Amino acid sequence: MNKRQNKIISLFQIKHPIIQGGMIWHSGWRLAAAVSNNGGLGLIGAGSMYPDILRENIQKCKAATHRPFGVNVPMLYPNLDEIINIILEESVKIIFTSAGNPKTYTETLQKEGLKVAHVVSSTKFAMKCEDAGVDAIVAEGFEAGGHNGRDETTTFCLIPNVKKQVSKPLIAAGGIALGSQMKAAMLLGADGVQIGSRFAATQEASAHADWKNKIISLNEGDTHLTLKELAPVRMVKNKFFQELEQLYDTGRNAEALKETLGRARAKRGMFEGDLEEGELEIGQVSALIDEILPVEKVFEKLLSEFEAAQLPQW
Ligand SMILES: Cc1cc2nc3c(=O)[nH]c(=O)nc-3n(C[C@H](O)[C@H](O)[C@H](O)COP(=O)(O)O)c2cc1C
Repeated sequence: MNKRQNKIISLFQIKHPIIQGGMIWHSGWRLAAAVSNNGGLGLIGAGSMYPDILRENIQKCKAATHRPFGVNVPMLYPNLDEIINIILEESVKIIFTSAGNPKTYTETLQKEGLKVAHVVSSTKFAMKCEDAGVDAIVAEGFEAGGHNGRDETTTFCLIPNVKKQVSKPLIAAGGIALGSQMKAAMLLGADGVQIGSRFAATQEASAHADWKNKIISLNEGDTHLTLKELAPVRMVKNKFFQELEQLYDTGRNAEALKETLGRARAKRGMFEGDLEEGELEIGQVSALIDEILPVEKVFEKLLSEFEAAQLPQW
């Protein structure tokens, strides 16, 4: 990896072009600081935090690392302005926005000195990011855990297409847990990677221990992208998922889906460890994750696998 020529390394002033994706109920200050201390970019996930909890996490992260870190802000919450104000007041230097329009805040935040990256799931939206003047684009394939696009475009197809259309630094997300996958994403045109699921099953992630153990037991085919009518999300096919599927079968009533969802199911599943009644968000790549590791070990493995990944001779 030629560090001097890597756009993500120079943009965020980090050592490795590895970003830990913001993840509700997983990425508090402990995970973000551990990732940053290991030379990646840690992101605090504001999506599951009340404003005062976010402020506390930022302050603790500052105390736990002197390296750059950022905050991920999904733009679909009602208290968005309050969240943005806290990020400014706490002098956070990097923000990754998602699930919204990149035009809304990019310019304002950049004027305050922040670097802004925005997450998209299609080339069309990547081009909108470029128009909005973001500093970097995260293009996320549909194999990723959590909320996602409706089009089911895989990382393998998305990255080369985005690369053709935009010139901003490009970060690939979705289906990356091994160094070989990271190298493949960079061969396709990405300047760096954003990883979620692999970091969800680390010692530093704030999720429930039973959920982390569940992640490492998952096999290929155990997750599915559902809720396309509301906000598409990839989750484990547990009892809660079956309930949602039944609602689909009885007419795909958006109100009924909202009612079922509106019971803090994500917190119940991933934070409180209710593996049947709760919502369990994770990517397809969970089938390749079979150990709960400290973040330091994840970095060691990623970097050595990255170096070792070579094409066979033919
Ligand atoms: C449990 C979980 C929660 C997530 N929460 C968020 C979130 O709050 N905001 C966001 O932009 N992305 C979220 N994501 C997506 C990740 O930031 C990342 O882009 C994605 O996990 C990458 O794909 P991978 O899971 O295959 O590594 C979440 C992913 C997971 C697995």
